[in-house]
Amino acid sequence: MSQVELVDSRAQLAADTDIVKQYLDQAVPAKPLDLSEQQRYQEQIKELLVARNARLVAHYYTSALLQDLAEESGGFVGDSLEMARYGKDCDADILIVAGVRFMGESAKILSPDKTVLMPTLNATCSLDIACPVEKFSAFCDEHKDRTVVVYANTSAAVKARSDWVVTSSIAVEVVEHLMEQGKKILWAPDKHLGSYIQKITGADMLLWDAACIVHEEFKARGLLAMRKLYPDAAILAHPESPAAILEIADVVGSTTQIINAAKTLPNEKFIVATDRGIFHKLQQVAPDKEFIIAPTAGDDATCRSCAHCPWMGMNTLQSLYQSLSEGSNEIEVDPALAQQAMIPLQRMLDFAAENKLKVRGKA
Ligand code: 13P
Ligand code: SF4
Repeated sequence: MSQVELVDSRAQLAADTDIVKQYLDQAVPAKPLDLSEQQRYQEQIKELLVARNARLVAHYYTSALLQDLAEESGGFVGDSLEMARYGKDCDADILIVAGVRFMGESAKILSPDKTVLMPTLNATCSLDIACPVEKFSAFCDEHKDRTVVVYANTSAAVKARSDWVVTSSIAVEVVEHLMEQGKKILWAPDKHLGSYIQKITGADMLLWDAACIVHEEFKARGLLAMRKLYPDAAILAHPESPAAILEIADVVGSTTQIINAAKTLPNEKFIVATDRGIFHKLQQVAPDKEFIIAPTAGDDATCRSCAHCPWMGMNTLQSLYQSLSEGSNEIEVDPALAQQAMIPLQRMLDFAAENKLKVRGKA
């Protein structure tokens, strides 16, 4: 019999909210640059990348400037699975990861001999914050009969405690694979992604209780109203969004899967429930199509994110230049921990290489 159980940890969540607020206070928007300053930074960064044999690896939620710079300088822009894969396979001495901390840590774990820098080490993730390793480890100890599957948005220590690491582009396939082996799953930390995987697969899953502060804000009532305004639009949603959003969506997938859907679906309009940083790539791959951000505000709006991750927003040209020129903000992971965390991360990369990843839609 399938089971889904949400670990009720309200006190923990309240504490986490305070911690999230403290982190958000550090996410101060950067001073805007004028065009000549911007061009100067871009040129200097490109020169430094060549001189240091470094590659810029950026996530789709970072600014358009950083995404373009990554591509123009021979680096890479992608989802979190692809960033990990690229970082491991490329022949650079230095990776500079524009994203959030877990992405830098994954790069370091998979490439222990490379230097991994980040524009800022303060760019974290609400899911990582809400899954401290001591509590998580105790939870795993209470459920030793379960296979531990964690989302990539976690610390190195949490990964080291897991059997599998997954990203949203591969989570359903991995859980299906484990189900075929008769395994029961302990899932952490994103409850929305966990519930979505459980619904698709019917797996026996015990879920940690945490959420992404950005996707949590999408509002189903507003989305239904928007669909009435744009009846021909397809709705594309990231699976970190609440269940009510995913039920309405036509396609649910990782950032890359959302971009591929926009490219291949015949619709001319799309309503998109994920961080608005992705619009830069969406407009590049489908310049004749129209993209509309899903609503985050409602009558009871508590929106602090407005569909943009405050931590992704901490990656700027200035902070990137500073880190690269000084060699500062280096990611360090305890080697013993890294060795342990590499096992489930490498398992994910091997699984991804062997399996064709699909976009999940209703069609
Ligand atoms: P992707 O793996 O889809 O890029 O998502 C990462 C993330 O943090 C989404 O909020
Ligand atoms: Fe974490 Fe959400 Fe930001 Fe992604 S968008 S890095 S899940 S807080």
